Amino acid sequence: MKRIALFASGSGSNAEKIAAYLANQSEITISFVLSNNPKAGVIDRARRGFNAGQHVPVILFDRKTFYETERITQLLRDQEIDLIVLAGFMWLMPAGLVQAFPNKIVNIHPALLPKFGGKGMYGHFVHEAVVAAGETESGITIHYVNEHYDEGQIIFQASCAVAPTDSPEDVARNVQVLEHEHYPRVVAELLA
Ligand code: GAR
Repeated sequence: MKRIALFASGSGSNAEKIAAYLANQSEITISFVLSNNPKAGVIDRARRGFNAGQHVPVILFDRKTFYETERITQLLRDQEIDLIVLAGFMWLMPAGLVQAFPNKIVNIHPALLPKFGGKGMYGHFVHEAVVAAGETESGITIHYVNEHYDEGQIIFQASCAVAPTDSPEDVARNVQVLEHEHYPRVVAELLA
């Protein structure tokens, strides 16, 4: 059995798609969801079992625990986690955690890296920047995570057109379709 830990601090739509996809794969399980945001939509989704079967435990942590203790790294080690999946998690991963799980942490970014990445570039800020720059395409990047925001090795990209009349909300919608289509499959393939 391969074990995934999902880090998420937003609505959790990607986490839910991943859970639904993995519900059909008996050899991969989601051990728990970790979040820094007690109000994150992902928490309710996880407690409902992501509408895909089993209840998934949620672990909430604060900044001090994450950056000043080894507790999260130790938990991931103790549970023998094979892959850490960031699905809308906005905090930088601490160096100790990255070093403890080399090439075992993946993230999805809602743009075509290396463009529109880095600190502060998340969620709607990304789509606003894409439209402001007059880009003709955007997309998704699934990449390994290192100690720097959005700089790890790229695993997969997919793109969508951006029309001159598109609003950031239009771009967000098109990018989300790509995220839901590809992230679950790529995660499963990394564990194959
Ligand atoms: C996704 O669009 C993801 O790419 C983005 O947050 C959203 C989370 O949505 N991540 C980043 O911007 C990371 N820099 P979700 O909570 O509905 O899955």
